[in-house]
Amino acid sequence: MGKAALNTRECKITKNLDDFCNAINCITAFMPLFRTRSEISNVRTSQEHHSVGLVPTMGALHQGHLALIREAHAQNEHVWVTIFVNPTQFNNPDDLAKYPNMLADDIKAIEEIDANIHIFAPAVTEMYPDELIAKKHEFHGFDKLMEGLDRPGHFDGVITIVKKIFELLRPSRAYFGEKDFQQLQIIKNWVNTEHVPTLIVPYPIIREANGLAMSSRNERLSKEARAAAGFIYRALLQSKSNCQTTTEIERCIHDAFAKHPDFKLLYVHCLEEEDFKKVEHLADAKKPRLFVATAIEGVRLIDNIALK
Ligand code: PAJ
Repeated sequence: MGKAALNTRECKITKNLDDFCNAINCITAFMPLFRTRSEISNVRTSQEHHSVGLVPTMGALHQGHLALIREAHAQNEHVWVTIFVNPTQFNNPDDLAKYPNMLADDIKAIEEIDANIHIFAPAVTEMYPDELIAKKHEFHGFDKLMEGLDRPGHFDGVITIVKKIFELLRPSRAYFGEKDFQQLQIIKNWVNTEHVPTLIVPYPIIREANGLAMSSRNERLSKEARAAAGFIYRALLQSKSNCQTTTEIERCIHDAFAKHPDFKLLYVHCLEEEDFKKVEHLADAKKPRLFVATAIEGVRLIDNIALK
């Protein structure tokens, strides 16, 4: 992505955030909303001997995010939610530009869980004071397929921001959804390799009533596409129950997508979830998982299910 495009967006995000925060100053008067690193520092130090749960998000919170926050709230003495649309993980400027910004609603939704949950919603310049670039990381092959292959640099951006947030908040536990399963495994791998003293807690996928995995991007779908997208999860489940081999499963997924030509199948993979090796024989596989990505109306949707 060109730097000029990022900078324009950066200004927009910063401005939006400023406008939002000015507008909601009265409702946040009693809420722990933090916008700068320096504001966080003392508060975090006062929590030093307590368990601290972290839920990193890009905002536009839905029930999937809120389930993670509730889990963190149940398991820790203090909870931090970060809301930051991280420009360096978007390889597509259009995707970044269209990312929803709903800070006031997000704050209200978190407050309904508990008004003592700490929210950190920094401006872009706060997280990237020098350059708006992602540091290159070694992912030991975990980034060589699926989202890593289709979205070059995406996981460098994710780890760059997750590392910055972890260094600031030093969480005892951090919560990540299985919806972004590749992200979850890459973060687990990074924590192990770098000996980061944080327990990564996975959380199952929360779905809409028709089975579509909840995602902030679903907001960009037309009503018709959102309703039709329930077929993705149904196809995953049907292939799991009707097929004996990975070849059959993949064929079944291709057939299901052929019946919905508006949905472009970007990939389908049966992989061992721990090392992302291709599953050859389902019967011998330890933790096989089925992954798909699709695009409809210019929106990228991903989903996965455990096969055992
Ligand atoms: P975001 O897409 O906002 O997601 C924040 C967290 O919510 C991620 O761990 C994601 O897997 C989880 N999540 C999203 N939809 C979910 C669903 N339907 N069910 C369960 N969990 C769900 O993922 C990111 O932000 C960013 O990459 C981030 C980690 C914050 C770094 O910028």
